[in-house]
Amino acid sequence: MEQQAPLTPEMLVPRLGDYLVQRNYITETDLQKALAYQQEKMTDNQTYLLGQALVDLKLINPTELDQAVTEQIIQLRSALQAANRNLERRVQERTAELQKALERLSELTQMKANFVSNVSHELRTPLTHVKGYLELMITGSLGPVSEEQHHALAVSQKSAARLEAMIDDLIMFSLASKGELSIKQGPVDIRRLANMVVKAAAEKAAGRDVTVHAVVDGHVPLVQADSQKTAWVLTQLLDNGIKFTPAGGRVVLNVKPESSNLVMLSVVDTGIGIPVSRINEIFEPFHQLDESSTRRFGGAGLGLSLVRQIVEAHGSMLDVQSVEGHGTTFRFPLLAVES
Ligand SMILES: Nc1ncnc2c1ncn2[C@@H]1O[C@H](COP(=O)(O)OP(=O)(O)O)[C@@H](O)[C@H]1O
Ligand SMILES: [Mg+2]
Repeated sequence: MEQQAPLTPEMLVPRLGDYLVQRNYITETDLQKALAYQQEKMTDNQTYLLGQALVDLKLINPTELDQAVTEQIIQLRSALQAANRNLERRVQERTAELQKALERLSELTQMKANFVSNVSHELRTPLTHVKGYLELMITGSLGPVSEEQHHALAVSQKSAARLEAMIDDLIMFSLASKGELSIKQGPVDIRRLANMVVKAAAEKAAGRDVTVHAVVDGHVPLVQADSQKTAWVLTQLLDNGIKFTPAGGRVVLNVKPESSNLVMLSVVDTGIGIPVSRINEIFEPFHQLDESSTRRFGGAGLGLSLVRQIVEAHGSMLDVQSVEGHGTTFRFPLLAVES
């Protein structure tokens, strides 16, 4: 690397000689003379400034030299400040542009959330009618139905239920992205709730060779929770367990006391499992490890991202353990109601 020359005043105030000529402090001939003299003096390896040469040759008096150097310094400083101001203005402009873009982006996010929430609610109303009439028909209230018709209606009912579950996921998602996922906590009979969600999940799983059941400890106290949201969370976990467990497998919801004031809920399946390296991905919204599962089983990839948000909104933490090819366990504790 080249060695750096020491800083001299002449480097900071460039081309002092030219400046002096320009401003008529000296003539061009004076300058040449002084430069030649400076060269001479420099030979014995000593620094000898041009200004010094001019003064020594009496081509300029020291006061005038000082004045000229001061002028140059001031010019330099004012140029520096102008450059600074320019830079600052550009930074401000860019910041304002970025700010605008950010505002636009959050507006769009808000619009998206509103859109999803409006559409989901709009979809729900007609679906309620469809479900109502299907129910009336299948129970024979609108006249007798043949066996074939009964079968067709049963399939329609299942599809309607899937559609409804999907819409509910979207509504939950839009609430969460608007920051409106409110948790209304109260004492919850978790034993009753667990048996209820398992019963519903088992009904949905009918026809698939996967057993679903609840193992509920007899001494479980009431827990402090939002009962609707907790039911939703457990349903999501059970649905996943059923979805990702091949024929012959088992899905169990366990409810048992963890300590004197904690109740542990866990959903254990004997399914395909999740590779350790991909555990974090499953909590990303709209993310599915195997896209072909959507075609086979439905789902929008929203469940787990919301499950985790709801569990955390309870002040709890969702834990997942999985062995690829052997099964997965999701679990989280809830606070017991103080008695
Ligand atoms: N019990 C499970 N066993 C294996 N993989 C699972 C299980 N639960 C979730 N996953 C993986 O995580 C992904 C995201 O789950 P989720 O958010 O509930 O979306 P979805 O059920 O709509 O696919 C699933 O698509 C699947 O790849
Ligand atoms: Mg799911």
